Amino acid sequence: MKKLVLTGAAGRLGSYLREPLSKMCDTLVSTDIVEDIGTLYDGETYVSADLADLDAMLSITEGADMVVHFGAIVDEAPFEQLLGPNFIGAYNIWEAAHRNGLRRVVYASSIHAVGMHPKNQFIGIDAPHRPDTFYGLAKCFAEDLASMYWDKRQLESVCMRILSCANVGNPRAVGSWLSYDDLIQLVTRAIDTPVTGFSVIYGVSNNDRAPVDNSKASFLGYRPKDNAEQFAKEVFAKAGPLDPTDPGDMCHGGPFASIELGNSALGSMNIIDDRKKT
Ligand SMILES: NC(=O)c1ccc[n+]([C@@H]2O[C@H](COP(=O)([O-])OP(=O)(O)OC[C@H]3O[C@@H](n4cnc5c(N)ncnc54)[C@H](O)[C@@H]3O)[C@@H](O)[C@H]2O)c1
Repeated sequence: MKKLVLTGAAGRLGSYLREPLSKMCDTLVSTDIVEDIGTLYDGETYVSADLADLDAMLSITEGADMVVHFGAIVDEAPFEQLLGPNFIGAYNIWEAAHRNGLRRVVYASSIHAVGMHPKNQFIGIDAPHRPDTFYGLAKCFAEDLASMYWDKRQLESVCMRILSCANVGNPRAVGSWLSYDDLIQLVTRAIDTPVTGFSVIYGVSNNDRAPVDNSKASFLGYRPKDNAEQFAKEVFAKAGPLDPTDPGDMCHGGPFASIELGNSALGSMNIIDDRKKT
């Protein structure tokens, strides 16, 4: 591939994707809203830009084969705060990809698009949207953009509904963990599978307790290797009892399912910022 674009390149997940993506193409254009992202990999350039700026997205995606879209506000927040980066930003990515003739958008969607489904339902990739927050609603909007741009404009998309790509620090994560190595494999398959049309796949490792079913996405060839069961004993020993009346314990979205709309959910999740250093 000649050129790939990675949004959200300054973020935690972006930090693990930059190096492998830079090896899949002649030029990787990394972008984020921050001023700079430090030392660049061979073949990588960096452009600081706001996702809400369509002209900037048009310029960054010019001549690209695909865009790997990870940029967003990554928490629940008032709708007005998410509108620019997560809603308009998503429209700008698909619209810019279409106008510049890109082949595919590889998108970091989220379990929060379907977060209000009860966890005792083993949901597949065809589970209807059931967002748990405005943040999840933005993921539904972007998935629907992806579907519509495929149906009407033949732009392919792979929407990866990531469960939780972070340290395993609570009982939910023993089922929902996506390791960084499996994240890289997932994004690689989403890029190198020859034909995807509009696809949805869950971003989860090979956990014994994974609560979702990827069997209808098996054509993408994603075969996760890691298993969070290695953390189960320690995590369960430290955890308090779960509350069967709390949507946060009973629904796929975890804390996002019980938080008031517009309030931060990440605050309670003790996520370690272990981003990869260049
Ligand atoms: N980490 C997870 O467990 C998880 C789970 C599900 C989905 N996701 C999705 O994966 C993606 C990356 O998540 P992350 O954990 O690396 O989060 P992160 O917050 O570390 O990275 C997001 C990046 O987006 C950038 N950004 C925010 N607003 C922007 C704007 N207006 N213009 C340009 N860039 C902007 C931020 O500066 C940040 O670097 C997100 O789309 C997120 O919704 C992550």
